[in-house]
Amino acid sequence: MNYVIGVDLGTSAVKTVLVDPQGKVAFEHSEAYPLSRPQPNWSEQNPEDWVKGTLVSLRRLMEQSGVDPSQVDGLSFSGQMHGLVLVDGEGNVLRPAILWNDTRTTAQCRRIEQTLSGKLIDIARNRALEGFTLPKILWVQENEPEVLAQAHQFLLPKDYVRLRLTGDYAMDYSDAAGTLLLDVAAKEWSAEIAEAFNLPLSLCPKLVESFDQTGTLLPDIAEATGLLTSTKVFAGGADNACGALGAGILGEGRTMCSIGTSGVVLSYESNKDLNLEGKVHFFNHGEKDAYYIMGVTLAAGHSLTWFKETFAADKSFDELLQGVGAVPAGSGGLLFTPYISGERTPHPDANIRGSFIGMDSGHTLNHFARSVLEGITFSLRESIEIVRDSGKEITEVIAIGGGAKNETWLQMQADIFNASIVKLESEQGPAMGAAMLAAYGSGWFNSLGDCAAAFIRPAEVFQPNAEQVKVYDGLFGIYQEVYGQTRGLNDKLAAYRQ
Ligand code: XUL
Repeated sequence: MNYVIGVDLGTSAVKTVLVDPQGKVAFEHSEAYPLSRPQPNWSEQNPEDWVKGTLVSLRRLMEQSGVDPSQVDGLSFSGQMHGLVLVDGEGNVLRPAILWNDTRTTAQCRRIEQTLSGKLIDIARNRALEGFTLPKILWVQENEPEVLAQAHQFLLPKDYVRLRLTGDYAMDYSDAAGTLLLDVAAKEWSAEIAEAFNLPLSLCPKLVESFDQTGTLLPDIAEATGLLTSTKVFAGGADNACGALGAGILGEGRTMCSIGTSGVVLSYESNKDLNLEGKVHFFNHGEKDAYYIMGVTLAAGHSLTWFKETFAADKSFDELLQGVGAVPAGSGGLLFTPYISGERTPHPDANIRGSFIGMDSGHTLNHFARSVLEGITFSLRESIEIVRDSGKEITEVIAIGGGAKNETWLQMQADIFNASIVKLESEQGPAMGAAMLAAYGSGWFNSLGDCAAAFIRPAEVFQPNAEQVKVYDGLFGIYQEVYGQTRGLNDKLAAYRQ
């Protein structure tokens, strides 16, 4: 039997999956790595940790599976988006990577808006948000000019790992779209944007399709992983694009909700001229000449992890969520907003912070846990509503990520979104999308759509319950008010954050 490998370079860990031609995951392995927060709002990683984790994970995958390396037709990547890796002419990393959830760049976002005004949306199709790459490049330009002066190119996280595995400098369109330097519809780097900030276009790597081959494994890498120097490596895509591929979001009307560290609502888009004025992100897909629109909740799974670690560290996630089904919708009047790291959609605001509103002495840990799930899901509903307002119907949503693992949460998504929620048989998230890019790139299928048809099978559908939908509709209105009511307070409290 032949196989392909998907490598998902996430924020907390790298996951590798070995996938057969039916889309079955024969083996998987995961290696965690640290994240550092050296200052408030900063979030950095050492790119060397990604490389080490990837090599160990691939080695374990090959050892545990016992598969002969000649059976592996190719491998591809999914990567955490937007993170800035600056490399010199020899490919050496010049400073720690500045990640997608680092929000130090508010001043640079304002500079981008003032310099480009309407052109930013016309060309890059997205607003200037702290998480995106261009603001990070400008932060380095302003604060560490000597570092930028040495930079030969900038890369995104998975592109750096691919460089180390193959020696090839490249970036695919789906990830390049999250830099704010790409002319998204024309699929080329924007000389106009680069020039406006005195950045040489040579800083931008060669652009490729996600399924294009970008070399083979270097000899030392083949040896370290147990693969071959002939193993083909395909470019790969942004984690959200790959999550969408792995969920079969490959046609108009298809929508997914992915709840990982961040949460996204993502809808397929074929019209490259659709302009939603930056209310949601507009990015190139992993499929050729396709796009997607997407709203992001910055702290989705992260809110739950934070809550567990802070208030129920002795419990597992299953134990923490065991009792939430017994608490009625609305958590007994307790409402949570998941703005613990600021927010993106619909409030691009790095200063906003979360809140529990309506606490009373009758509330238990179960009420709090349920309200955290509800708050995260309300935040995602904000994105669902923007997509609906753009004229798209959303009656069915494919659920992926941690949020697809708990039945109470899946039913909650059906009731809060008022849509059927589909759980997949073998849900592997972005890692499966990466494997699909390798499968299609290797010539296993004629299209990514054919690959999705062979790989992806629905397991269960959760239908909205009309009564709960009504309760949640009422609560959603209250949830939406919290942002405006707490914004001024949070601006004042910002002075006390250390
Ligand atoms: C998307 C975003 C996050 C990261 C997580 O714009 O910032 O979803 O891709 O890895």
